[in-house]
Amino acid sequence: MKRIGVFTSGGDSPGMNAAVRAVVRTCFYNNVQVFGIYEGYKGLIEGNIKELQSSDVSNIIQRGGTILKSARCKEFHLTEGRQKAFENIQRFELDGIVAIGGDGTFTGASIFNKEHNIPFIGIPGTIDNDLYGTDNCIGYDTALNTVIEAVDKIRDTASSHNRLFLVEVMGRDAGFIALRSGIGVGAEAILIPETQTYINELVDKLESGKKKHKQSMIVIVAEGDDAGNAHEIAEKLKGKCPAYDTRVTVLGHIQRGGSPSAADRVLASHLGYAAVNALLAGKTNVMVGIVNKEVAYTPFEKAIKHHREINKNLLELAEVLSC
Ligand code: F6P
Repeated sequence: MKRIGVFTSGGDSPGMNAAVRAVVRTCFYNNVQVFGIYEGYKGLIEGNIKELQSSDVSNIIQRGGTILKSARCKEFHLTEGRQKAFENIQRFELDGIVAIGGDGTFTGASIFNKEHNIPFIGIPGTIDNDLYGTDNCIGYDTALNTVIEAVDKIRDTASSHNRLFLVEVMGRDAGFIALRSGIGVGAEAILIPETQTYINELVDKLESGKKKHKQSMIVIVAEGDDAGNAHEIAEKLKGKCPAYDTRVTVLGHIQRGGSPSAADRVLASHLGYAAVNALLAGKTNVMVGIVNKEVAYTPFEKAIKHHREINKNLLELAEVLSC
């Protein structure tokens, strides 16, 4: 293994740069040449690949986003697109690839691997935290802190005006951000895709809060909740919750930016280092993660398919503490 490529793909997440830095520095330490592939699979298809020096990753550990850029690439879904990617891997004589991303990234890697048998190691980087085989994905902790900081501010104004706020957080298919941030801000209710939302039960809960003299109400809504997004749920609540003047805030992409937290920087550094060592040890087609403080290797297919289940204890905790 003399030449390794690295890319970031899918939705970016804070800490991806720290992971890129760790990959590059671990390669240098082992006298391996390292190549940055720009814009994920798109760059692989277009041959947008450049050799990186150790100094290229100086002063990036603290920066959000990704210096390698990211993209969601439709062409890689096609056999012809993957063939072009393979040809570029051969042209640049890459012996292995480190892919930093989420489930879409690893689905692509898994298909590609079956067709072309190029050694691939994945690093979990997604604020959604919805991969099996790691306690945390890179960016999740920072996103949680961003949500908590924002909702604390919303709570101030909600409380001044005795208002109900529906705050929408990211998570198309997963409620990890909503559940954990909801507990962190002391939300009155948390609506996630993994559990069924009954509007009448939500109304009862909000009404009972009013009777207990709660002055403000925060409901955290994962964008992919089965009852709809925050605006749709606000519509469904119309007329049913007259006690509260209702407002909606969609936090959106601010959750994906910002300087990574200490936890994300350390996690990303550890995983970048582990990914290169895994390639050097002959591993392939696995995602590296940290489970109970130990490095763990999970086949891509398992990491994607066995979406981590929501922690039932946390659901109960949220329920009890919001009574
Ligand atoms: O996968 C991460 C994520 O931030 C999801 O939570 C969100 O639904 C999606 O990406 C948004 O993607 P885009 O930035 O492509 O609109």
